[in-house]
Amino acid sequence: MRFLLTGGAGYIGSHTCVSLLDAGHEVVVLDNFVNSCPEAIARVEKIAGKSITLYEGDCCDAAFVSSVFDKEHIDGVVHFAGLKAVGESVRIPLNYYQNNLGATMTLCRVMAEHHVKRIVFSSSATVYGDSKEVPFNESLPMGECTNPYGWTKWMSERIMRDIAFADPEWTVVLLRYFNPVGAHESGLIGEDPSGIPNNLMPFICQTAAGVRDKLSIFGNDYPTPDGTCVRDYIHVMDLADGHVKALEYAMDHQGTEIFNLGTGEGYSVYQMVAAFERANHLTLPHVDAPRRPGDIAVSYADPAKAKAVLHWQAKRTLDDMCRDAWNWQSRNPHGYRQA
Ligand code: NAD
Ligand code: UFG
Repeated sequence: MRFLLTGGAGYIGSHTCVSLLDAGHEVVVLDNFVNSCPEAIARVEKIAGKSITLYEGDCCDAAFVSSVFDKEHIDGVVHFAGLKAVGESVRIPLNYYQNNLGATMTLCRVMAEHHVKRIVFSSSATVYGDSKEVPFNESLPMGECTNPYGWTKWMSERIMRDIAFADPEWTVVLLRYFNPVGAHESGLIGEDPSGIPNNLMPFICQTAAGVRDKLSIFGNDYPTPDGTCVRDYIHVMDLADGHVKALEYAMDHQGTEIFNLGTGEGYSVYQMVAAFERANHLTLPHVDAPRRPGDIAVSYADPAKAKAVLHWQAKRTLDDMCRDAWNWQSRNPHGYRQA
């Protein structure tokens, strides 16, 4: 099969390219490199020993997206393209609504015009809001998001469900990711955040590399066993493999289906620090700091549906996640940029 990946040069997209190529599929990537670079695709090609067709342009640009579908035979789409910095979305909400919803609506319209009606979408556990019921199960009602980024996921889900409801030829698979971390085991591709990382694992890695002085642990008075927040960290290669299963599922089903992609295990921030130190035989400078606004105490997946329906489950351990994240960081201290 030949799949289009919007945002395929980004962190999760590049790892998914590897999994799809390894599974024998062909990959076309559309990306404007607003948060990535072509080097990621070159490295994917090196890992997989296969080539990728790459189009540089904006997913909100209907003429451009349409030109890609005119040139390529596409069996299905994974829609990764979007802005994802939670704090930035609070400061410049309109950019997030315009980019993330614009990309979703333009893409779906162009897909329908080209009679390609199978889409897998990168959603997030953030759509559950601050649910008191853990683990998060797909049948829970969607919650209140705490930031504009989260609302763009919530609204994109709604838009795609409505499209599939109106036209039964559509297949929409909504994947709710928990907390992707780690890197391909080669250390050739990984997460390359611009500026100061918002997320825990890249901040830990940059602290271990000496780029940051110390890790601040945001809040130690949450109602959790050790007082720090609990999350479901999932190895990005497990997540990537989940996309292969989701696309293969989409090829012979119709309608909308939602799947959590998580491990089902929650780890606290203190536990993550200890695991990183243990896996990589190093000491990580860290201090306790005030809570970060908008954080919820506990988030972890009920992954049973993905296991039963997609025959997918996360295989890699917390040690694998910590080791592979550090392998990437230590081999590429400046990410994809040269020093
Ligand atoms: P990323 O920023 O590394 O990748 C997103 C890619 O989309 C980038 O390559 C970027 O250049 C591209 N892009 C953005 N807007 C575009 C546009 N208008 N046109 C073309 N390309 C565009 O992020 P990621 O971590 O790989 O996340 C991929 C998707 O998964 C995003 O939609 C993100 O919101 C979602 N997601 C990520 C996480 C996470 O923790 N990483 C969690 C839940 C959901
Ligand atoms: N944390 C720290 N110090 C840091 C960074 C993070 O203590 O320097 C803590 C946070 O307070 C939180 C935990 O580490 O308790 C995880 O934080 P992340 O930012 O790594 O992840 P979040 O769960 O907050 O956010 C992630 C994605 C979002 C998504 C959300 C909900 O980054 O895109 O999960 O699924 F919306």
